[in-house]
Amino acid sequence: MSKPLSQIFLPAIGGTALMLAVAVVVAERNYGDNQIATLERQVVQVSERAEKARATGQAEAARVGELEAEIAEIQAAAALRVATGSNLTAPAPEAEGAYGLGRAALVEEIAAWDVDVLPDGRGLPEGKGDVWTGEEVFADRCASCHGDFAEGVDNWPVLAGGFDTLGDEDPVKTVGSYWPHLSTAWDYISRSMPFGEAGTLTADETYAIVAYILYSNDLVDEDFELNHENFADFNMYNMDGFVIDDRPDLEYAAWRSEPCMENCKDEVKITMRSVFLVETPPEGGSNSVMNHAAGEELPSFTAAGPSFIPEGAKATQAVAQDTAAPAALADDGADLIADGQKVFKKCAACHKVGEGAKNASGPQLNGIVGRTIGGVEGFKYSKVFQAALEEGRVWDEAALTEFLAKPKSYMKGTKMAFSGLKKETDLTAVIAYLASLGE
Ligand code: HEC
Ligand code: HEC
Repeated sequence: MSKPLSQIFLPAIGGTALMLAVAVVVAERNYGDNQIATLERQVVQVSERAEKARATGQAEAARVGELEAEIAEIQAAAALRVATGSNLTAPAPEAEGAYGLGRAALVEEIAAWDVDVLPDGRGLPEGKGDVWTGEEVFADRCASCHGDFAEGVDNWPVLAGGFDTLGDEDPVKTVGSYWPHLSTAWDYISRSMPFGEAGTLTADETYAIVAYILYSNDLVDEDFELNHENFADFNMYNMDGFVIDDRPDLEYAAWRSEPCMENCKDEVKITMRSVFLVETPPEGGSNSVMNHAAGEELPSFTAAGPSFIPEGAKATQAVAQDTAAPAALADDGADLIADGQKVFKKCAACHKVGEGAKNASGPQLNGIVGRTIGGVEGFKYSKVFQAALEEGRVWDEAALTEFLAKPKSYMKGTKMAFSGLKKETDLTAVIAYLASLGE
């Protein structure tokens, strides 16, 4: 009989099983060692992580504490501002632990300075204005110097035309013919015009004026409206007329590299100052002139705002306000006239006085007190002035006071682009000064 298969195979299987078992034990031992090492590593890692988490937690708690302190400080500063009537010029609250110098700029302060407008329209406030509105505002605020059609009065800048002159020896560079970006016009006008009354235009007025200037340049139709949305799409006539001159031997290349900071002067001294002489610009030139800044009388720009008032005059005004009554009583007339002469700096951009004074953008004012209204021959007065001349009306002190306080309400339609003198002391003084001048 043959052995059953199991009798032949089992021993062999048993042997194999034994060998496998041995192998498993050996492997198991190795595996166990590895397992332990891994576990040990994991324990280290976990405790490291726990340590880190604890540190992070502490740092976060500290930061929360700091932020809370900061918030409390800001709240306290805000409360102080409210308590002092939101007076932005009040001295800064002293910061504990810092040097006590200055304070962070307020959002409102940054916004007031941050007015620049870029070619792509960034920085523009929302708003709109059309050509028709622009024409009105321009006639009211700009035409006395720049002409009804932006053609320029006398030597004041022309803002329109000149398109075929850019290649000439004496090109007429206007907003229309020359300026590559519309944003320059918006930015410049909103910052600095009307001359002497900068900062008084609203955003909508500025959009309207810019639309009107484009219209005067035949760049848009009469029904054009300019707004913050279509602004950046407007392509100026001379937009491709400017290139970067990057020739290596010129400025551009020089200013691209690191500035030289060697052999610097030890001391900086101001020897000259650029002073605005308040005059009609000379033929073909600008009226910004270099001038020695010695005299107190010279007008200069101040941080307080656009101003033709010399620093010296400001100080006198402030004193006069403090001691208004006694100063007025003690005044022997000469002081008043001197004060008036200073006030007249505001008028001198447009009016000349003194011997041989000529008409400028306003008529000469010699002997104005007692003079017929609109009576200077050769000056082109507005309709309301021509009407007053026909009626034979005369400038007495009362009429002058009312006119100079609010030119546009006293003479409706006048082309004198001047908002008026706010202070009674200024009015009295300037009239006394004008009265002191001969014919
Ligand atoms: C009292 C006179 C006067 C009035 C009013 C006036 N401007 Fe001007 N404007 C000037 C003078 C002066 C300059 C040149 C300033 C300079 O070069 O520093 C000028 C320059 C400009 C320029 C730049 C011209 C150029 O090519 O460089 C523009 C644009 C302008 N004015 C627009 C206006 C607008 C718009 C108004 C009305 C809102 C206005 N101006 C009202 C006197 C005036
Ligand atoms: C932006 C230019 C400008 C400024 C600034 C200005 N005026 Fe005038 N003024 C004129 C013009 C233009 C007229 C003519 C008004 C008209 O025809 O409507 C005029 C008219 C006058 C008249 C009437 C003259 C006459 O013959 O009847 C007096 C007076 C006068 N101005 C005084 C002053 C005084 C004072 C100041 C300063 C406080 C001043 N103006 C500031 C432009 C100006």
